Amino acid sequence: MKLISRYTMMLLALLVLLTTVAPVASATGTTGDSSSKKLVLGTSADFAPYEFHKVIDGKDQIVGFDIAIAKEIAADLGAELVIEDMGFDGLLPALQSGRVDMVISGMTPTDERKKSIDFSDTYYKSKQVIMIRNTDKDKYPTMAELENEKIGVQKGSIQETIGQGIPGAKLTALDKISDIVLQLQTNRVNAAIVEDTVAAGYLDDIIGLAPAIPDEEQVEAAIGIRKGNTELLTAVNGTLERLKSENKIEQMVKEASQLNADKLDKNQNIFEVFWQYKSFYATGVGYTLLLSALGVIFGVIIGLIICLFRLHDVAILRWIGTAYVEVIRGTPMLVQLMIIYYGLALTMGINFTPLQAGIITLSINSGAYLAEIFRAGVQGVDRGQLEAARSLGMGRTAAMRFIVLPQAFKAVLPAIGNEFVTIIKESSIISVIGMVDIMYQASVVKNITYQGMNPFLIAAAIYFVLTFILSKLLGRLERKLSASDRR
Ligand code: ARG
Repeated sequence: MKLISRYTMMLLALLVLLTTVAPVASATGTTGDSSSKKLVLGTSADFAPYEFHKVIDGKDQIVGFDIAIAKEIAADLGAELVIEDMGFDGLLPALQSGRVDMVISGMTPTDERKKSIDFSDTYYKSKQVIMIRNTDKDKYPTMAELENEKIGVQKGSIQETIGQGIPGAKLTALDKISDIVLQLQTNRVNAAIVEDTVAAGYLDDIIGLAPAIPDEEQVEAAIGIRKGNTELLTAVNGTLERLKSENKIEQMVKEASQLNADKLDKNQNIFEVFWQYKSFYATGVGYTLLLSALGVIFGVIIGLIICLFRLHDVAILRWIGTAYVEVIRGTPMLVQLMIIYYGLALTMGINFTPLQAGIITLSINSGAYLAEIFRAGVQGVDRGQLEAARSLGMGRTAAMRFIVLPQAFKAVLPAIGNEFVTIIKESSIISVIGMVDIMYQASVVKNITYQGMNPFLIAAAIYFVLTFILSKLLGRLERKLSASDRR
């Protein structure tokens, strides 16, 4: 009884924590003073010099000329700029669902996109180019030679559409430009279609890339605004006009390119990488632990409820419990996450923050597995135990609580421990919606350092340490509980 009320208290405390922490955690980047009005910018910060991550004064910041423009817009509106960094193909849904107010991400105002969002006047023009490896330099491909070639493009970009139009081309569509460059470096693709301004940042790099061959086609960039938000559209166009008349945009492009050009030391070893980016990983650990802890707690609650359903006398409850377990176990967690994060927002206007969506997904998911573990535990206790307890005059509830459940709990503790370890590891999936956990931070460090291995080895080491400590702790608890058996 005492034990139970202690757990209830802990639960309540965590619930309070969840509700206070969630809004704070939703903002991945904030600049400017804390005026009440907020302007939320959606961007895919992998597109130097438009928008990219850069460590300034030891802190990870999103910079670039798109960001500089966004700051001007926010200043003109007297609003605080909040930056949401996400995959390029997540930008349109984010804008439509109201998760962000505007999108500045080197986005080309295509007719296709104009069907779902509005665009400002264009603020920049660039050209399509093809990046290849240095060793292929004398092949000098043009678009025509890309037929039947393995080509890397960014997911959801117009380059993907261009690639789809090349006969026989085998496309690899990825979230981040840096991933495409890695693919090129590692011979997985032989060419990548990008924009010249962006390619320039890679060409003078130690990354082996040949000068890209320009295609005639010009690509424009404009700012995306939600349909019907004419007020913001007018304001944005006003700011753009001012910046153009002051010749500010060119200057911003130049500054951003320079910032991108002073590159970091590419030959850092794993310890140097870890030391330089330790604050990134520290933030990641915090969120991973928060996600997992809350995922476990709500998962246990859901698991208990579903387990009770499954063992209930009422058939309909049993049926609900079974359906829950089967459906959740039978669908990938990534799909569940997409439904909860994007699906609910787009269809019902329920806008969860990445943290909230992450916790809900993890809890729902682990709830199904834990329900099965609990059920196995309860059913594993000999029926005679219950009968003996009842014959001694205990009520059903008391017999369950004092006789059956303690034995069941002890028996399934290893399985529960396994599930907890799984939750810590699986929480890495939440990084795809921009949850700043260990996995997300590893990708950020990868994008900054252009190192493909070390950032992830560090992440692996951290996950391992976390799960190792957890399983040691659980092992201890197990021994303690079984000590009473030997008495
Ligand atoms: N201009 C291209 C498009 O609109 C690519 C933009 C990619 N932007 C980015 N931040 N990665 O599809």
